[in-house]
Amino acid sequence: MLPHSLPPMIDPFGRSISYLRVSVTDRCDFRCVYCMSENMTFLPKGDLLSLEELDRLCSAFIRRGVRKLRLTGGEPLVRRDIMTLFRNLGRHLETGALEELTVTTNGSQLSRFAGDLAACGVRRINVSLDTLDAAKFRQITRWGALDKVLEGIDAAQRAGLKIKINAVALKDFNEDELLPMIRWAHGRDMDITFIEVMPLGEIDGQRVDQYLPLSEVRARLSQALTLEASSHRTGGPARYFRSVETGGQVGFITPLTHNFCESCNRVRLTCTGTLYMCLGQEDAADLRKPLRASESDDALMEAIDRAISRKPKGHDFIIDRTTKQPAVGRHMSVTGG
Ligand code: 5AD
Ligand code: SF4
Repeated sequence: MLPHSLPPMIDPFGRSISYLRVSVTDRCDFRCVYCMSENMTFLPKGDLLSLEELDRLCSAFIRRGVRKLRLTGGEPLVRRDIMTLFRNLGRHLETGALEELTVTTNGSQLSRFAGDLAACGVRRINVSLDTLDAAKFRQITRWGALDKVLEGIDAAQRAGLKIKINAVALKDFNEDELLPMIRWAHGRDMDITFIEVMPLGEIDGQRVDQYLPLSEVRARLSQALTLEASSHRTGGPARYFRSVETGGQVGFITPLTHNFCESCNRVRLTCTGTLYMCLGQEDAADLRKPLRASESDDALMEAIDRAISRKPKGHDFIIDRTTKQPAVGRHMSVTGG
């Protein structure tokens, strides 16, 4: 069958789904304090889809109109043999069925994989980095080493990959670093996006002690930089501003202060084949069963249709002193953001 000879995925609110994010592992070599607790229980390895199965699922979504595919984790580059999946998915770039294959990484393994990623057709990557201070980096990631990540960023740029830095804005932690981080990123020809911390999964601390509204951040940054509203889009929920003085884009992802669900174009697949239709809701669909039930994709396509028909209108994250439960029980590392 030809690519795109199947009907596109349109949800009940008329949003067409063209972006698939795939968490290829829930494991990570860091333990960022806002993302994970120190003692995480991960999925037994036997529950994971094989790389072949992940390829088959992704390819099914591409036939249904997915144009942008992002591999996430956990940390996607710690999954064994992950380059095999990148390489195989790269074929959809060659046929033009897929517009973009990309990855969100903590950068720890980039010095090893940057060249391979570029060879697979990856052009842009997101690197998560919340501070440029080595001691604070260790504190926030619990296990990470800043110099390793910076080496990875160097390697990625040498390989010709375009980098966007993602930083979670954290109260009393990196507030005063956000401006220097913009200067650093733009000075190296990288865009940077700030993210509000989201109430996903149990962690050891209190979300309310981490939460820093980006409306405040932007107001503060505007005293030092001229931030012009920009039409720049990367297919995600970030709103961009061009920083006149430093010459790059500054993005703001504000799930709490401004809800962006109306333009949502995405769904998220986990490494066990569970499809989440919304980051902020519990409802999910099991695609592993129909995938394994037969070699034909018919049952899978039906399961995808049923799932998309249940995509909710949006999320309603709340972070305050009286709301003790996270909005959803699963950690960001299950769906990869
Ligand atoms: N809220 C906001 N961002 C988070 N991330 C992980 N957990 C959370 C959370 N609870 C970020 C990571 C990375 C991206 C995948 O999601 O820092 O940038
Ligand atoms: Fe790992 Fe990313 Fe979670 Fe940090 S935020 S623990 S790097 S998955």
